[in-house]
Amino acid sequence: MVHEVRGVVAKGKGLPVELETVRVPDPGPGEALVTVQACGVCHTDVLYRDGGINDDFPFLLGHEAAGVVEAVGDGVTDVELDDFVILNWRAVCGDCRACRRGRPWYCFATHNAAQKMTLADGTALSPALGIGAFVEKTLVAAGQCTKVDPEADAAAAGLLGCGVMAGLGAALNTAAVTRGDSVAVIGCGGVGDAAIAGARLAGAAKIIAVDIDDRKLDWARRFGATDTVNSRGTNPVAAIRELTGGNGADVVIEAVGRPDTYEQAFYARDLAGTVVLVGVPTPDMRVDLPMLDVFGRGGALKSSWYGDCLPSRDFPMLVDLYRQGRLDLDGFVSERIALDQVEEAFEKMHKGEVLRSVVLL
Ligand SMILES: NC(=O)c1ccc[n+]([C@@H]2O[C@H](COP(=O)([O-])OP(=O)(O)OC[C@H]3O[C@@H](n4cnc5c(N)ncnc54)[C@H](O)[C@@H]3O)[C@@H](O)[C@H]2O)c1
Ligand SMILES: [Zn+2]
Ligand SMILES: [Zn+2]
Repeated sequence: MVHEVRGVVAKGKGLPVELETVRVPDPGPGEALVTVQACGVCHTDVLYRDGGINDDFPFLLGHEAAGVVEAVGDGVTDVELDDFVILNWRAVCGDCRACRRGRPWYCFATHNAAQKMTLADGTALSPALGIGAFVEKTLVAAGQCTKVDPEADAAAAGLLGCGVMAGLGAALNTAAVTRGDSVAVIGCGGVGDAAIAGARLAGAAKIIAVDIDDRKLDWARRFGATDTVNSRGTNPVAAIRELTGGNGADVVIEAVGRPDTYEQAFYARDLAGTVVLVGVPTPDMRVDLPMLDVFGRGGALKSSWYGDCLPSRDFPMLVDLYRQGRLDLDGFVSERIALDQVEEAFEKMHKGEVLRSVVLL
């Protein structure tokens, strides 16, 4: 059987997204059909629309989602009918060189559905990040479904599917922030604020939020920032040093994805400190650092893909912390919108008016 549903499609470079009829097949072996309940609007969706990821138009956008399993294909044992799940883009393969070495949070060959969702005329859709969830029902690999506590609000829980997990994991997994650490976060959008929340969960003693927008700095306090720096008028490296006894922070997380902010992160950390790049740069960007400083400052320069998360380990645990009131996922949901308001949500995101707009289905 093929399901005809409504979905948000990007048809060509830079064109506004359109609401289209999407044909979704019943799940084949290893696949799951999911009724999407909520899906957050992420920068990566705009990147797809603008041709910044690749040219495989048309794209079915949306990937920060939660919903309920409606059907599973042959051989699926990890999830079943009516499970409440968060969708992930790291369905570990078990077989690549990272998985074989026991480091599945780096899996290089994550699974996606084998069958294609299509437009009404049969044109195959490319689902964003192998998910595609601005749609009433979506088809994914069963491993892309992570079962969590069904009492959680879908709008909040779904955000763990991408940006919020990336920020939390940058602090908790990649930087491995521990109690007593000083942490600075440069760029306080959804990802940076999640890094701040992660640093607080881990017991960081000082959490310095840096942004060029005072409104963002106010929000950052809500997630746990103890100090804020508006780097539009103040040198952030000097400010972070001053707030850390002249030394720099133990961990600096860059959540913008620009050479100038990366350089700030590099110089704002203490000797032997850690820099984590979670912001995504564009292909033209370069950094130019004195090699002697790279050597002389020691420590670690890391990047964090998807917060080095392992969905099966991290999603249920973080949803539990959310349900216990120890992780404010609701704070990331700035507004709840309808499927036909995605283009407006992109606009608000550009103006910095929201942390996350979440489409309810
Ligand atoms: N590594 C991953 O797996 C992963 C996953 C999702 C998103 N991301 C990336 O994380 C980054 C942040 O995403 P987001 O959703 O939080 O975006 P966002 O636009 O909501 O937040 C960016 C923040 O940076 C601030 N900013 C911009 N220029 C700045 C500057 N020069 N100095 C200080 N602050 C500045 C903005 O005011 C804004 O608050 C993006 O590059 C996104 O692509 C990475
Ligand atoms: Zn693998
Ligand atoms: Zn995303």
